[in-house]
Amino acid sequence: MHNRKPKILEPGLSTMVMNAERFIQDAIAEIRREVKGRAIIGLSGGVDSSVCAMLAYRALGERLVPVYVDSGLMRQFESDRIEHLFKDIGLVRVNAHDRFLEALKGVTDPEEKRKIVGETFIRVFEEEARKIGGDCLIQGTIYPDRIESEGGIKSHHNVGGLPSRMEFKCLVEPLRDLYKDEVREVARALDLPQEISERMPYPGPGLSVRIAGEVTKEKLDVVRKANAIVEEEVMKFCPWQAFAAILGKATGVKGDNRVYGWVVAVRSVSSRDAMTADVMELPWDVLRRISSRITGEIPTVARVVYDLTPKPPGTIEFE
Ligand code: XMP
Repeated sequence: MHNRKPKILEPGLSTMVMNAERFIQDAIAEIRREVKGRAIIGLSGGVDSSVCAMLAYRALGERLVPVYVDSGLMRQFESDRIEHLFKDIGLVRVNAHDRFLEALKGVTDPEEKRKIVGETFIRVFEEEARKIGGDCLIQGTIYPDRIESEGGIKSHHNVGGLPSRMEFKCLVEPLRDLYKDEVREVARALDLPQEISERMPYPGPGLSVRIAGEVTKEKLDVVRKANAIVEEEVMKFCPWQAFAAILGKATGVKGDNRVYGWVVAVRSVSSRDAMTADVMELPWDVLRRISSRITGEIPTVARVVYDLTPKPPGTIEFE
């Protein structure tokens, strides 16, 4: 296990602000020290990579190329939103839908899926780096990602999921010692919009870890719609994370017809740092509305279940 540096953000607002400011100065200095030429940053639009991108932009200016890989595993409208938010720092958007689907074809093992997603991201970043003549990759990896990957719980796509062979000569991870709540403090100190600083966490491998078994275009379309419905209904309860996943198939009846359709699981948890999580006791009428909306608005879904498992023994995501 790592020796984590002391938490940067101790209680007390003035200390928080001061420590976040100090962290920002240190991180900028570290990035300037490590990156000699041009660098790529993998920007997913989540709070971690956005904070990291802003730090790197302050450190490197035009020597930084933020790359958003549109993997086809993102939520509804997510890609356009990210492109719009980061156009001012020169975001490059790469459409890689087919590439990810092709790479994931026939793969059912969760760890293998994560490794494939991690590797595909890296290959796209390498191609973009070659185009700009840079050999450095900056990533928004945070402390819990490293702990879970190295503790053997799961290979977070940007740590254990990285391929053993990479063209990059340097990998810079300025947030590696921070918990999510600390990253949010830094985001606020950087004046990032609330839409980013308070953004619900979303896994790098995206919807692929919310699909049990093989990832297909059909399942992606279903889980994307179901996720949007869950977010619409649950965000007002301020969950740590709320989402939908596809578990498999089951029999149901719609109208007068028997259907053999998808089973969608709804998950909504509260947490402080994602290391542990509690199931949220959502009002019954909200759960019923989610169920009837998902089965009503997505014709191929036969059933909706609510996941009652805390972490541990479950994890937050399904895979
Ligand atoms: P688990 O499922 O391990 O998730 O309880 C803990 C937190 O991490 C997010 N998560 C990931 N984030 N790459 C990421 O960037 C990943 O591979 C990954 N897997 C899980 C998850 O959404 C939760 O917030």
